[in-house]
Amino acid sequence: MSSNFLEETVKSVHHWTDRLFTFTCTRDPGFRFLNGQFTMIGLMVDGRPLLRAYSMASANYEEDLQFFSIKVQNGPLTSRLQHLKVGDKILVGRKPTGTLIQDNLLPGKRLYLLSTGTGLAPFLSVTKDPDAYERFEKIILIHGTRTVAELAYEDFFTKDLPNDEYIGAEVKQKLIYYPTVTREPFRNQGRLTDLMSSGKLFSDIGMPMMSPEEDRMMLCGSPAMLKDTVALLEARGFKEGSQSEPGHYVIEKAFVER
Ligand code: A2P
Repeated sequence: MSSNFLEETVKSVHHWTDRLFTFTCTRDPGFRFLNGQFTMIGLMVDGRPLLRAYSMASANYEEDLQFFSIKVQNGPLTSRLQHLKVGDKILVGRKPTGTLIQDNLLPGKRLYLLSTGTGLAPFLSVTKDPDAYERFEKIILIHGTRTVAELAYEDFFTKDLPNDEYIGAEVKQKLIYYPTVTREPFRNQGRLTDLMSSGKLFSDIGMPMMSPEEDRMMLCGSPAMLKDTVALLEARGFKEGSQSEPGHYVIEKAFVER
C-alpha cells in the first residue's frame, strides 16, 4: 500500500435509506484537517487503491473519523463501500484539502451553510466547530433533499448537537437548522434556490434578506445546485472567496460520481 494512505478500521456503520449511509473509522493521531475539508478515501481492489473524495463529517477535535456517503449500485467504490462491516479496513488519504474553510470568507454576521443531499457532510464538521460560533452571530444550516427519509442527521441537529457538553450552549443560541424537502409533503418545501429568491427562507427563519455586507455562504451540492445558487448570489453582489482572497461565499461539489 502507498504511504500516501493511512489504513484505518471501521468502527460503526449506519444505513439511513437504500441510497444513504454513514460510517465511522479509527483516526491516526497524525491525521490533521480543517473543519469543512475533504480527503481521498477508499478500498484496495485487485491489489490497487480505489479512491474517491469524501468530506470529513466529523470535527477535527473528534477521536474518530466519520463519512456520509451515497450508495450508487454500479458505482466502482460505493457498490463495495456500502457493504462495509465493523472491523473492515479503509484507506484514508494523508492530505486533506478543500475550499469550505472559514479563512476563505471575510468576517460577517451570519454564516449560511447551503447543502443538498450528501453535500451536508462538510457542514456536519463546520457546525461542530467552536471557532465558527465565535466568528458568527448566527449559523444557518439548510439541507435540501427529495424525501423526508433523506434528511439524515435531523435528530443530530435538533437533539444531540444542542445538548453537546462542549458546544451545546452555543448551538442552542446560534444554530438554525432548516431542512427542506422537494418531493413529499413536509413543513418546509421546495428547492433552497426558490426559497431564497422568493425570500420565504429568510422570513421563515426571521432573518433579513441575504446581503454581501452581512452574510457569508458555504455551498455544497450537485453541479446544478451550485450553478443556480451561485447565480443567485452573484446577482446580489456576492463574490467568491479563496485562500489568496477571502470573499462572501465558497463552494464545493458534493461528490456523487462514486
Ligand atoms: P428536486 O427534487 O426538485 O430535483 P439529489 O438527490 O438529486 O441530489 O437532490 C437533492 C435535492 O436537491 C433535491 O431536493 C433536489 O430537488 C434539489 N436540487 C436539485 N437540483 C437543484 C438545483 N439546481 N438547485 C437547487 N436544488 C436542487
